[in-house]
Amino acid sequence: MKPIQIAIDGPAGAGKSTVAKRLAKKLDFCYIDTGAMYRALTLKAIKKKHDLNSSGCIKQLLSNTEIEIKNIRNEIHIFLDNKDVTYEIRQPEISNNVSNIAKIPEVRDHMLHLQREMAQCGKVVMEGRDIGTVVLPEADIKFFLTASLEARANRRFLELEKKGYSVDIDSIAQEIAIRDKIDSKRQSAPLLKADDAIEVDTSNYDIDEAVDVLVQEIKKRLD
Ligand code: CDP
Ligand code: CDP
Repeated sequence: MKPIQIAIDGPAGAGKSTVAKRLAKKLDFCYIDTGAMYRALTLKAIKKKHDLNSSGCIKQLLSNTEIEIKNIRNEIHIFLDNKDVTYEIRQPEISNNVSNIAKIPEVRDHMLHLQREMAQCGKVVMEGRDIGTVVLPEADIKFFLTASLEARANRRFLELEKKGYSVDIDSIAQEIAIRDKIDSKRQSAPLLKADDAIEVDTSNYDIDEAVDVLVQEIKKRLD
């Protein structure tokens, strides 16, 4: 089987996870959500009451933390030290803190190795912030998904409201904008469109339309 790598990057709420997951199912590729890995580490740091601003504390955590992605009955689950934390890592408290942990160079280096190992599964759709630029720079196809801040905040609002969180759209927009800024400005592997990535603005697409656009691009390149 010839390995094929599809990299999807972009800012928060652009639709990466949803689109990547559907795409992987459609193509029968494995799906790797790299953001979930940073979220899992953040969850552990919060639970252990570590100082989230101390890179020394976070670096120490890394050495005894096990993060795995498993496919269970066709759904992707993230495990932290053998415990399923798939749903826990989506809490707003994690979103608010994850970028400060993800900017630590040693954390990125650790995740980079894990992610490259995971990509050995063969045909892979991997999604995050630095996949096309750093993790899989030789990926066969790279996408950079974007959407207006308004559209992204609105999507997150609907998602959190559905899960029962009491949220207001302005603070969501603010959280997303802060996170994008930290992710784009960090020294190590910032959020960046790779030169050879195809940019897709999903502001006016629903999920099916966005998936279709990517499938058409993949067909053009791989057929
Ligand atoms: O789903 P959402 O876009 O809100 O975030 P995510 O993909 O779960 O990623 C959470 C955070 O992890 C991002 O805001 C980044 O700080 C970090 N991240 C990263 O630095 N590099 C990646 N490849 C993926 C995520
Ligand atoms: O992974 P990322 O942060 O880029 O976005 P996501 O978690 O896949 O999508 C954020 C929310 O927007 C989810 O609730 C999706 O169902 C929704 N979405 C949408 O309404 N329209 C799209 N074209 C893409 C995602």
